[in-house]
This record gives sequence, C-alpha cells and structure tokens, in this order.
Amino acid sequence: MSTGYGVAPVSGLPRRVTVYEVGARDGLQNEKALIPTEVKAEFIRQLLAAGHRAVETTSFVSPQWVPQLADAAELLALLDPPDGVRMPVLVPNDKGLNRALDAGVREIAVFGSATETFAQKNLNRSVAESLEMFRPVVDRARGAGLMARGYLSMCFGDPWEGPVDPHVVAGHARSLFDMGITELSLGDTIGVATPGQVTALLASLGEQGIAVDQLAVHFHDTYGQALANTLVALQHGITVVDASAGGLGGCPYAKSATGNLATEDLLWQLHGLGIETGVDLDALVATSVWMAEQLGRPSPSRAVTALAKKDD
Ligand code: HMG
Ligand code: MG
Repeated sequence: MSTGYGVAPVSGLPRRVTVYEVGARDGLQNEKALIPTEVKAEFIRQLLAAGHRAVETTSFVSPQWVPQLADAAELLALLDPPDGVRMPVLVPNDKGLNRALDAGVREIAVFGSATETFAQKNLNRSVAESLEMFRPVVDRARGAGLMARGYLSMCFGDPWEGPVDPHVVAGHARSLFDMGITELSLGDTIGVATPGQVTALLASLGEQGIAVDQLAVHFHDTYGQALANTLVALQHGITVVDASAGGLGGCPYAKSATGNLATEDLLWQLHGLGIETGVDLDALVATSVWMAEQLGRPSPSRAVTALAKKDD
C-alpha cells in the first residue's frame, strides 16, 4: 500500500479515505469514439479487482445528450456487483430512474449545478427547475431503499459566470439534503479552485448545518490544483474523494473541463501519508495503461506515467 518511498503521516488527517472512482462514468462520457460495452465492463471489473469499493459505472441520461453512455443497461447486465460495493449511476429524471431501477441499481446520483448557465447547458433547465426535477427522483429512489448521492457542479468557478459565491452553493446543497440525498459531492467541474476556496465553501456548508461526513470532493485537475485542494479537504475532515483512473474525464457541456484528479496521483499522496484506501496502486496503474491502449492515447496521470515506465 505504500509508495515504495516511505510513509510519513501528518497529524489531523483521516486514517482511511474512500476513493470514489468515476473513471467509467466521468472518465468516458466525453469520449467521441464509441467504446465497446465489453471494454467498459472489463474496465470496471479491473477497477473492482484493484480494490475499489465505490465505482460509478455509467449514466441513465438522454442518449441524445450523451451518446457514449447510451449502453448503460447493457453495461450493467454484464456486471455482477459484489456485496458491499457502491456502484452508483447518474440519473437526472424519472425516465432515468425507471431505467436504473429496471437495471437493478442500488444507488443513484442526481447532478445539479451551482450556476444558472451550466444548469441550462447541462440539464436544459434553471437551477430551481432542475432541483424540482430531482425531487421526485430522490423521493422515489429513497422509498425503494436506494442510496441517492447528489452532485453540485461549478461550486468554485464557472466559465460563463466567473467566481461562484459559496453561500449560493451552500443554499443549493441545503435544498438537496432537504429532499433526501445521502451524500453530496462538491464539483470543481473546470478545475479552477484553490485551497482557500475549499476552506471557504466547507465553512459555508457548515453554516447550513451540513457536516463534512456527508460530503465528498470532486476536483477536475485543469490547473493542477486537485491534490492541494484534496489535502485541504482532508484536513477539514472529508473522507470521500472522487477520482478517475488514469485521470480520464471531462464534461461534454463544459468544454474547459479536463480530466478528473487521477486516482493514481491521489493514491500516491494518500498512501505516502499512511492513509488507508484499500486500493492497490500497481494494479490500478496496469488498468490505466490497458485503458489508455483502448483509447489510443497515454494517460495524463503523472503517477501512471512514472510507474508504467519505472524500471530503475
Ligand atoms: P431535455 O431535452 O430537456 O429532456 O433534456 P426531454 O425530457 O425533452 O427529453 C429529450 C429526449 O431525451 C426525449 O427523447 C426523451 O425521451 C429522452 P425523444 O422523445 O426526443 O426521442 N430522455 C431520456 N432517454 C433516456 N434516459 C433518460 C432520458 N431523459 C430524457 N433519462 C435531460 C433534459 C436532463 C434529459 C438532458 O439534459 C440530459 O440528459 N442531460 C445529461 C447531461 C450529462 O449527462 N452531463 C454530464 C454529467 S454531469 C457532469 O459530468 C458533472 C459531474 O461530473 C460533477 C462535476 O464535475 O462538476 C457530475
Ligand atoms: Mg466531473
């Protein structure tokens, strides 16, 4: 589990972190060429075999909006989720929930926006209208015994609107918790956040009565800040961190979004700090190298690049 270069804990950090793997969903949704469903299934099997216990698999969204994930039901039919593993899927509306329930999912995720422009671009609705779309989805999912994650995108900055007020984010977060979500992931969709902004947002969420044990962080790594932001989040008590194997990712409706924080880069930091994740870094590197071959381009992850060619 270590990096091979020693472990040096820092006080005040959690002993264990759940790495919430988004490579199969966030990582692949933006790929232009259609990836065979069997390749996606093999990717997910390898993620599970590497030790992941929270793997977001796909989205039950409109296939006109995200053609790459139109095979969601076929994909899930190829998988056999082990007990005790979270395998959530994105669901925006009733139609998506019906499809997800038919596929036997045990956890869904609704995905709102902190800003009006991105809500329109990603969901074809205002923020308030999208929250109203989610309410019956979360209600019905929870009634059926499912867990319901929530996301808020553009929590720190928005390419059309600029800086985002943490109090506004906290207000939308409150609305999502009031409708029954079980966890909220704070999305830095375009990767512009810096550590002080993370502290400010967590403080605003605290003022709304939202505790850190209900939160996850979701940093895209556009400006190379994702690891610094993660460390600050851990210092504030966050224990669920979203990341994408090999640093895959982006958002089809926010062109300035690049890949997520690479899971391997995250593991290098966490394991070096002596924080347990249960995920095998070497196995994950092998998976990301394999996936990069499928996609026909190298992984942007620094740790994958270093470890894949490490022979001295
Ligand atoms: P709309 O066009 O307003 O919806 O889109 P509509 O109800 O008018 O439906 C349009 C067509 O889609 C209809 O088909 C519906 O039946 C169909 P037609 O009658 O024209 O043949 N449809 C569906 N089909 C299957 N499953 C469904 C579904 N819903 C409608 N669930 C809608 C509204 C919400 C559907 C659309 O905007 C949409 O699908 N958006 C999803 C966009 C998306 O997936 N973005 C990426 C994920 S978010 C993200 O990456 C950020 C995140 O990572 C966090 C971060 O980084 O910040 C989570
Ligand atoms: Mg994302």
